[in-house]
Amino acid sequence: MIADDELHELGRASGAHGEVVLRRRGPVTELVVDGVFAMDDVDTSTERALATEALRRCPGADLRVLVGGLGLGWTAATVLADPRVAVVDVVELQPALVDWAQTGLLPGLPSLPADGLRLHTADVAAVLAVGPSTWDAVLLDVDNGPAFLVHQTNAGLYSTAGLATALAALRPGGVLAVWSADPAPELAARLAALPGATGVEHLLLPVQRDGRSFDYAIVLARAVQPRSADA
Ligand SMILES: C[S@@+](CC[C@H](N)C(=O)[O-])C[C@H]1O[C@@H](n2cnc3c(N)ncnc32)[C@H](O)[C@@H]1O
Repeated sequence: MIADDELHELGRASGAHGEVVLRRRGPVTELVVDGVFAMDDVDTSTERALATEALRRCPGADLRVLVGGLGLGWTAATVLADPRVAVVDVVELQPALVDWAQTGLLPGLPSLPADGLRLHTADVAAVLAVGPSTWDAVLLDVDNGPAFLVHQTNAGLYSTAGLATALAALRPGGVLAVWSADPAPELAARLAALPGATGVEHLLLPVQRDGRSFDYAIVLARAVQPRSADA
């Protein structure tokens, strides 16, 4: 009999951004990035909510969505499941995770290829800086939150300049959504102060783990639409 907490390593790789480990603990898949516990799939409701909350604020069809951070694939799979989405660009820093996705090791995305899904190995900050007015939604889940970074180099994503770059990467009216394992009122306030942002929301998502209750959060903002005289 397999003990519930028995560890079984599915993959381990090292590269420019540290070591990444994918493992199973009994029925649960865990991801450790650069020595930081990044996630498991005990409760993926908030990773999926990152996609559904952003997409239900996006009008229209033929949507193009950027997902920053592949992780175990739950956010990307939820975006793909929306029939209004034409293209999902998933940007992941760790090449091994992209390889493991392609071999079916990620529980959220067990069967690839999938229509409309494009996996990129890159730093999402660099991708956002390249593409003004490109996406209808930009979903960021690359850390445990702005206050608990997986890589210190990600700090710039949550700065005023980083948030302005993410907003500029959206088509007018597009939605930026940022996941956090803690309430992130400072992030919401920083976004609300930006001239390129409107309709900032700070959603608290209660999650039960190990008999304890936690408030995870998603911060959303919409890219300002040009006034009709400017359009
Ligand atoms: C918590 S996981 C994402 C979970 C994902 N939302 C899901 O549903 O499974 C964070 C991921 O972001 C990646 N990451 C961290 N910094 C990044 C960056 N600057 N650019 C792209 N990916 C990054 C990590 O390697 C990790 O795979």
